[in-house]
Amino acid sequence: MPAISTTFLARTARERGYAVPAVNVFDEISMRAVIDAAVRTSSPLIVQISVKTVRSSGTAFITSLFQALTRDVEVPIALHLDHCPDRGVIDDVVSAGWSSVLFDASNRDFDTAERETGEVVTQAHAAGIAVESEIENILGVEDGVGSDHVERAYSVETLAAVAERTGADLLAPQLGTSHGLFRSRPTLLPERARELVSLTDRPIVLHGGTGLEPGEFQEFIAAGVSKINISTAVKNSYMRASAEHLDWAREHDEWDPPKLFAAIAAAVTDSIAEHIIWFGSEGKATRVAEAVAR
Ligand code: 13P
Repeated sequence: MPAISTTFLARTARERGYAVPAVNVFDEISMRAVIDAAVRTSSPLIVQISVKTVRSSGTAFITSLFQALTRDVEVPIALHLDHCPDRGVIDDVVSAGWSSVLFDASNRDFDTAERETGEVVTQAHAAGIAVESEIENILGVEDGVGSDHVERAYSVETLAAVAERTGADLLAPQLGTSHGLFRSRPTLLPERARELVSLTDRPIVLHGGTGLEPGEFQEFIAAGVSKINISTAVKNSYMRASAEHLDWAREHDEWDPPKLFAAIAAAVTDSIAEHIIWFGSEGKATRVAEAVAR
């Protein structure tokens, strides 16, 4: 199945009361493992790539890898560029025909953020690509992008009005979460998501998903969030499984790379399959595929 529209996946999820998992991957093992999780649970999926990974692997390689790994897969899967403040990388990804980009303008002042978001939307829409918009900063640094401090925050009315004026397709507001592991329990803001939902029909994205409890995800979904981003959980499963396997290899003096890859993939697939169940997207792939076909 070819890459599908991110907006369509998130809108369908919102209508049906679940969230699409949007999972960051950074190599073949992690991409294959999260796709396997979606296939195992029959869930729609958004595969996300950070700017850091685009820079290290190259847009052409990631595009080909995604096409190769999804060619014979029946579940609907979108390919999305995560937090990107760099217009040059957006140009590349738009030319490569990915499903969507997150233009992260939270490092720009308000007027510049709005003007540039409008420009990115015009450019992306001309190529049939959707734009997630971030103009206030979500806390935490991920793959070198972001800040641990509140740099910019606006009212929900302002966020909805900017989305309307720029034509952005999905909104990434601050909802109390942060990227990476929480150092203390966050003050979550599902009410803020609910207020935004009452002001705009654009899908609302929850960033910083790793570390929330299943009930907390469900509160956000009930408030109208329909795309949930997960990255740190993938990195943790990947690295912990690697460390455990390397301990085993040392103990048994058996150094077989494919066994290491299989151990990592199994851990990442299990972690994402668990999140899919929490997000309520298990078993939703077929109905989404039917809706696409209509
Ligand atoms: P976590 O790293 O907290 O899972 O956040 C992921 C994210 O929001 C990617 O944009």
